[in-house]
Parts: sequence; C-alpha cells; structure tokens
Amino acid sequence: MSDDKHIRIFDTTLRDGEQAPGCSMNLNEKVTLARQLERLGVDIIEAGFAIASDGDFASVQAIAGALEQARVCSLARTADADITRAGQALEQARHSRIHTFIATSDIHLEHKLKMGREQVLEEVDRAVRQALQYTDDVEFSAEDATRSDWDYLVQVFTCAVKAGATTLNVPDTVGYTTPVEYHDLIRYLREHIAGSENLIFSLHCHNDLGLATANSLAAIEAGARQVECTVNGIGERAGNTAMEEVVMALKVRQDAFDGLDTKIRTTEIYPTSRMLSSIVGFPVQPNKAIVGDNAFAHEAGIHQDGVLKAAITYEIMTPQSIGRPSNELVLGKHSGRHAFRDRLTEMGYELADEDFQRAFRRFKALADKKKSIYHEDLESIVSTSVSVDDGRFRLGNLVIQSGTFATPNATVELLIAGEPKKATAQGDGPVDAVFKAITELTETKAELLQYQVKAITGGMDAQGEVTVTITEDGRRVIGHGAHTDIIVASGRAYVTAINRLEAQKTHRPQPPPRGI
Ligand code: KIV
Ligand code: ZN
Repeated sequence: MSDDKHIRIFDTTLRDGEQAPGCSMNLNEKVTLARQLERLGVDIIEAGFAIASDGDFASVQAIAGALEQARVCSLARTADADITRAGQALEQARHSRIHTFIATSDIHLEHKLKMGREQVLEEVDRAVRQALQYTDDVEFSAEDATRSDWDYLVQVFTCAVKAGATTLNVPDTVGYTTPVEYHDLIRYLREHIAGSENLIFSLHCHNDLGLATANSLAAIEAGARQVECTVNGIGERAGNTAMEEVVMALKVRQDAFDGLDTKIRTTEIYPTSRMLSSIVGFPVQPNKAIVGDNAFAHEAGIHQDGVLKAAITYEIMTPQSIGRPSNELVLGKHSGRHAFRDRLTEMGYELADEDFQRAFRRFKALADKKKSIYHEDLESIVSTSVSVDDGRFRLGNLVIQSGTFATPNATVELLIAGEPKKATAQGDGPVDAVFKAITELTETKAELLQYQVKAITGGMDAQGEVTVTITEDGRRVIGHGAHTDIIVASGRAYVTAINRLEAQKTHRPQPPPRGI
C-alpha cells in the first residue's frame, strides 16, 4: 500500500448525483450545497457538466467563483467543444480541474461510440492535452472500466498520463464489479502503468448490486487514493458510493485500514445529508447507514438496556460524531433576526438577502403557530425559501371546504408573475381540489406521479412536509412544501414542482447526455 495516507474525497453530488431522476437543483440550491460541501471538507467538487446545458454551465461558473478551498471540477467528454466549455466555466476558480472521459469497454466502443480502440486512444491524447490549456489539473476516466480489457485499460491510461493527466479514474459505471475483482484491477493498473507512484488512482462505483461501498473500500486497500462519491449515495439508477459510508468506515475502522483517513469534518456529515435531502425533497431511507432516521435508534429492550449501561455495547460511533443534533429546541417566538441568522450560519446556510428576508418572515409566521422551532423546521423553512426564487407562480391565499357531507371544494389564489389570479375547483378530497385549481391556473400538462406527507417534528403542532413528484415529456421533478396546515403544504409543494418543471424547460432544453 502506498505511504500516502490521505484519501481524497471527490464529491459528485452536483453532477452524477443530480443525474438521478427527481434530484435536479436550481442554481441557488447548487451554490448553497457547494458551500456546505466545502465546509464539510471535501477535496474536490464536481460542480456539473458544463456543456450539458446553459444551466449546468452557469452553475459550474457560479460555484467556481464562490469557493475558496475546494477544487472545482467540470466533467467533459473528449470532444473539443466539451473541453472548451468546461475550461470557460472554470475560469474564475481558485483551484480547478477538468475531468474528461471516454468509454473503453468493447461493448461501449461497438454499440455506443462506434469507434475502434486506436481512435479512442487518439481522442484521449487530444482531450487531455487540450484540457491542460485551461488548468494544470486533469483527471481522465475510462468509462465502463470494469467491463474493459485490462491490457487495453493500461494502454489508455498510459496514453492519458503521457498527455499530462495526473488522476486516473476507474469507474464501475454499471455497478457490475465485486470487491475482490475491483481490488485486483486497481492493483493490476498500479503495477502496469509506468510512473504509477506519482499518480492518483481514483475509484467511482455505482450501487446496482448494493456493492458500491464494499467495492470502494476494496479499491482503497489496493492503493486508490481518491473516492468519487455522493452525499446520501444519490445518483444514476441505484446511486453512487455514499460519501458518509466510506468516510465513517475509514474513521471507525482505522485499525483495519492502516490509518488511512479523509479530511472530512465528520460533524458536518449529518447537516449536509439533511441539507441535500431537504433541497431535492428526496427522503433518506430510514435504515440508511450513518444518516438514516433509525441509524442510531435502539429498539430492542436488550439493546436499550445495554446502551444505557454503556453506549459501547451496541454503538460503534456516536450520533454526535456525525453531527446529529439532539432534539433540542433551537429558536422560539421571541427570537429576532440576529438569532435567526446566527442559527442558519451555524447550520451552514448563507442566504442571499432576499431569500433571508423571505425565510425570516416564514420563521415568524411559523413561530406564531408553533411553540418550539427545531432544526428540522429551520431546514424546511430555508429550503422552501431558497427554492422559490426562479418561480413564475407563487401561492397566495387558499380556502377549502371539505368534510363528510360537503363535496371537497377549493378556491386558490396564485400570483402569476406578480399578478393575482383565482380559480375554484372540486375534487375527490381537499388536496385533489387544490391541485385541480392550481392546474387550471398554471395550465400545466404535468401528471402527478407521487404524493407523500410526513410530520417534520413530533407534537400536535408539528409542521407537515409534503413532497410531490410530477412528470411531463420525460422530465420528472420533485417539489416540497411545509406548513402547519397540510393542505397549504400540499399547495406549496405542487406549485414548487410546477416552477421547477418550467425552469427545466427553459434552462435545460434537453435532458443531460446519458449513458454516463
Ligand atoms: O459512471 C461513470 O462512468 C461516470 C463517469 C463519467 C466518471 O460517471
Ligand atoms: Zn458515474
């Protein structure tokens, strides 16, 4: 194993993660999350795929300008235009990287690229050299590496290194490999690529067989020193390697991993997980390792008894070590702007003035209805205040009539580009009636795929958080809304989703290139 004990965390939540259906984010949300990733201590942030759309370009550019410490990276295929676009988007970055890739498996060469092996080598050489005109840090990925011929991989990576790449990424694009096989592949590459001691080998796993974390750790044991991963493991299909799992495995089992460690501030793991999940409205499964609701919940009597006697009996890490807050009350009705801003800063949110004012108004309105305001309430206030910024539609007043005798009926007021408009509709229930009235006002063609409601915190006065998933023409977006009245929360969630759909139609005329 190499003497280098630093495992670099390359976070691709904003690129591979954002490719997951329903996980798209707007510019403000991406910058907010990128700042939190920097605070978490990730080494490299893949901010997007600059050529994919004007929206992607703008977010790579904004993140490049906003971050101080973390290296900001853009993905690019080997095409000339891809590299140019990535280079332009990164101009303002203090530390930049271009990550260029091309597929290397015969399956991809034959069916997707329709190229021969020699042609791919020429592409690699040209792309890496071109990327070096924009940055001194170039990463090369051999897409579908784990289904590629090993000797051909050696040739491709050698070519990338001769052209100037210093990080070599070995993606398990389709989540196909196994820990032993991946370990052997990384070792084989390190042994057969000249000058490997001066290169960083990187792993990139997908979770199709539920092996992403195990494969990642196996690659680290074989000498890989960069982990490509996402927060909560979001990403294409079954997702990518979950950052929090690899980081905590290395931390908790330093003995098994020979003292290897990351520079992650582990107490920022939970806040980052919550921030992502509230921004994209994508809940974390309750039994998810490290960040799931039940990850530290001891239900069985025998376990509870043990934990009370000595936590070490059943707890291999503490909730505090990953920054899980106790259910403490954080703010109340009398808290002012100052206290509110301080709390948000502590939680990693830096809001633009307009978003802050909107969030503060929401906080005050909530504090009037609800005695205790918890972390989760603040997260939902922030996410709903930041997400509405690019929306043409804004929910105004809402009146519903419902019950066992009355036909559910809703009158909804919507501000459309600032102009108030009203519609009344009937439905199977009050939520259905509200959605019908909003559909009429927005003239949306979107179809409702999913509707979920949950209480954000405990207690009779808890806020309800509603998540809706809607779809139109192959686009799928999620919207969420929170309020002490779940009908209002539902209306907010639906309007947010429609705004996001509209934004996608304008900023992302085509879905981003797939097959990556
Ligand atoms: O899964 C994959 O192969 C990728 C590459 C672009 C690194 O995401
Ligand atoms: Zn990937």
